[in-house]
Amino acid sequence: MTREELISALEDPGPENAAVLYAKAYEVKKKTVGESVYLRGLVEISNICRKNCLYCGIRRDNGNTRRYELEPEEVLRAAEFAYNGGYGSLVIQGGERTDRRFIDKITSLLAEIKRRWPLGITLSLGEQSKEVYREWFEAGAHRYLLRIESSTKELYEKIHPADALHSYETRLEALVNLRGCGYQVGTGVMIGLPFQTAAHLADDLLFFKRMDIDMCGMGPYLEHSGTPLYEYRDRLMPKYDRLELSLRMVALLRLLMPDINIAATTAMQAIAPDGRERAIMAGANVLMPNLTLSDVREEYQIYQNKPGVGEDAAISSSMTEKRLRDMKIPIGYGRWGDSLHFSKR
Ligand code: 5AD
Ligand code: SF4
Repeated sequence: MTREELISALEDPGPENAAVLYAKAYEVKKKTVGESVYLRGLVEISNICRKNCLYCGIRRDNGNTRRYELEPEEVLRAAEFAYNGGYGSLVIQGGERTDRRFIDKITSLLAEIKRRWPLGITLSLGEQSKEVYREWFEAGAHRYLLRIESSTKELYEKIHPADALHSYETRLEALVNLRGCGYQVGTGVMIGLPFQTAAHLADDLLFFKRMDIDMCGMGPYLEHSGTPLYEYRDRLMPKYDRLELSLRMVALLRLLMPDINIAATTAMQAIAPDGRERAIMAGANVLMPNLTLSDVREEYQIYQNKPGVGEDAAISSSMTEKRLRDMKIPIGYGRWGDSLHFSKR
């Protein structure tokens, strides 16, 4: 698909064309990675973050967030829950921290989880040095998610503070380093950002292809009143349009990269209760039920009205599984569900 074709498919195609696109993407998914959806238990280990991304509710300067960090035992309990529930994998996600104490904590947690259960482990802990990425890989993590947020440097710079800590080049380098360490690499973008055009999103899709990524997680941008980007809320498209645009991004990416793993993300569910399921029907094949303890969930509000606050792991996971069963979508229980694209490389 050319850039122009991607742009016109992203610009409002009308409901009929969108349905055709989703169905086509579903067929491609079925033929390549299969119909199964893989579940990954998600643990939000800490909302402490050294960064100040202009869109994010847990940015450093948001003083209205109570900061927390889970105890190793709490993470292990979530891992056990995931394993007993037949989830092949766990995702450990958190704000970006580079202090040694935190790095060591992750390293020993990885070793302990791998010692106890044959779970696949994905990390999503921001930009780290090559050495730290290697340390965590050797301790047992084998996938890493680091969103590029926008592959267009100018747009990236509009949504991040202009300082060395938020450099576009460093982000790119981190993605290259992750690949060098042997990880399955996942990235992604936010969709419906202020200043963002269909051309930016088409370029994001082409960026994923060029970077030869193994996994992708992307979702609608949702404004948060405690962040600087909130100022531009009047420029946003309606939320439902952001969701539809996200679904078109998923479907187009499935056509472009048939054998990668694509996540149906929580931000989609924040716009419509069945947002994630609709992403599955448009070509996504990974879902991450939140296993974070209910008493800290509300503190991990990267955007407002995040769904699942007040639920515990058992509720979030059983509701997700029930939805999939009702839709007759097979769940890949007991398997890691690695990226086929990565295995083929
Ligand atoms: N809306 C949607 N997604 C967001 N993220 C951060 N803030 C927001 C927001 N306001 C996403 C970013 C980041 C991930 C942790 O959450 O893409 O990579
Ligand atoms: Fe920190 Fe990630 Fe939020 Fe940026 S998007 S402030 S790095 S948690």
